[in-house]
Amino acid sequence: MCGIMGYVGKQSCAKMIYDGLKKLEYRGYDSAGIVVLGDTKLEVAKSVGKLFNLEAELGQLSPTAKMGMGHTRWATHGAPSVANAHPHTYDGFSIIHNGIIENYQALKISLLEAGTVFASETDSEVILHLLHREYAKDRSFDKAVSRVIPMLEGAFAFAAMTIEEPGVFYLVKNSSPLVIGCGVHENFFASDALALLPHTQEMIFLEDGQVVKITADEIELRDFSGKLLQAQRKILPKVDSAPEKNGFRHFMLKEIYEQPAVIRATLEKVFGASGAASLDESAIGLSALPFDTIKRIHIVGCGTAYLAGTLGRYFLEKWAQIPVSVDLASEFRYRSPYLDAGTLIIAMTQSGETLDTLASVKFAKQAGCPIYSICNVPFSAIPRGSEATFYMNAGPEVGVASTKAFVAMVLDLFLFTLAFGHKKGLISQAELEKQRSYLQRLPALVEQAIEQQSSIEQIALRYFEATNSLFIGRGNSCSIALEGALKLKEISYIHAEGYAGGELKHGPIALVDEHIPIIALAPKDSHYEKMLSNIEEVKARGGRVIGVGGKDDKRLAALCQDVLACPQIEQEDLQAILSVIPLQLFAYSIAVLRGTDIDQPRNLAKSVTVE
Ligand code: F6R
Repeated sequence: MCGIMGYVGKQSCAKMIYDGLKKLEYRGYDSAGIVVLGDTKLEVAKSVGKLFNLEAELGQLSPTAKMGMGHTRWATHGAPSVANAHPHTYDGFSIIHNGIIENYQALKISLLEAGTVFASETDSEVILHLLHREYAKDRSFDKAVSRVIPMLEGAFAFAAMTIEEPGVFYLVKNSSPLVIGCGVHENFFASDALALLPHTQEMIFLEDGQVVKITADEIELRDFSGKLLQAQRKILPKVDSAPEKNGFRHFMLKEIYEQPAVIRATLEKVFGASGAASLDESAIGLSALPFDTIKRIHIVGCGTAYLAGTLGRYFLEKWAQIPVSVDLASEFRYRSPYLDAGTLIIAMTQSGETLDTLASVKFAKQAGCPIYSICNVPFSAIPRGSEATFYMNAGPEVGVASTKAFVAMVLDLFLFTLAFGHKKGLISQAELEKQRSYLQRLPALVEQAIEQQSSIEQIALRYFEATNSLFIGRGNSCSIALEGALKLKEISYIHAEGYAGGELKHGPIALVDEHIPIIALAPKDSHYEKMLSNIEEVKARGGRVIGVGGKDDKRLAALCQDVLACPQIEQEDLQAILSVIPLQLFAYSIAVLRGTDIDQPRNLAKSVTVE
């Protein structure tokens, strides 16, 4: 979602800012722009669509400019257009903004009444005109910023500059992420440290309620009341160069193929290279939690992360005998959940930045809950607000549709469950050893699941023109059915619904006819017989069933038109990790046949930083 990158210092900056925006491209956007401080005026270049369109406009910007800022926009208020793209600029002032100004309509009406002319349909533009109006009162940029902040409601981060005070940026943060990169006679800022790492490893992560004045030599941090604050600098590890496709046609496919390695790395992290039968509690993060006082658990997350969380409930209630509820982060804080210091929050998030999940974490913290996060991106906002974090060993996930992060999340939840149950005295050493040996088999079994790619491609040829589809599963496979449906709809744009197999007869069975493919998860687990009965019910109504189950399962094959073959493991919790692989490959193969933009599907963003 919207990305920010800014610079002030000694280097020519237009291309550098563009390159920073490129690093944020994976987050998802629909238009982009850059403003630089030219010799006599602010110069702006903007474009709609992919960033290479903006590259073609860079010639409009002074090549010698040494101060500027850029933005990738994911439309919330107003369609993707050049007028709505940021930076917004007026009479020597410019702003870029992430988030939503919730009271923008009231602010806009009062500005319109005073004669302000708006150039865009965005909520963001009100910030620009408010700053311009307030500056006119006493010609102080600093005072104008401090007067505007209390007028704004919502979650936002913005940066502002003016020709009136060349070389000075103001950054304001309230909920949406902002990080400063510290240099020598130069400073940088961005919405994501990733854009800054090619230039510096020294970062200041801004907290909510902070405003910063930045010049090439100065970083002055204050809270919204004006009190000076001491900036906490962090040194981030260097990152390898940007992820490449390495010969794969899409990042999504590459990331599907990386899953065995992700599992191996995680197992090595928690069991050690020798594969000892004891779990490293500190790698899992359990040792940093107030274990003795935890009486219940709430898992929160969005989309795929939420669906991984639904498996966590099955795992934790079964193995660790603790009450667990799972909430969509966007709903959690609006339903008055019962929370206290005995309630552990588990925040599931690949990016560590999803605003709904972050808001849930803040809400639960206020109620005194300890926070545990399962996250892929170090130093991101949610781990920074957590007592403990289990970092996935997934490496950067670029494809917008999450694959390896889902598998990592499910695995991490299972390992957390084992550690929790063991510490509680419910999982014996012998049981732990047994579970470890199941886990050690996973990477090779996931490899076998991936080897089915070409046969799945053949099956996809028969279904890629469908307009609707239904995914069903029971128990753990119910979460996998929902995840399979989410993957398919995200990247192929085929309407897909996921349902519990037993729920079919309570409504969705009305959809069944010869046109709608029904993808039925039927691994050989404790729900197998019941699942076959559900498939029979569908077949009796003329449905076309694609089974997902064992390669040699003749009963399943006899009932289904096609079978997406999947390796089987007797441990049903871990079967979930195997069953999702054919569904990832199925969604991918269908999307290839439909010619969609697989790594950046329409309307979606990798990092969802608005509510
Ligand atoms: C689906 C997908 C999204 C994310 C969701 C949460 O493939 O990727 O549903 O899972 O936006 O994102 P994170 O995990 O970054 O909090």
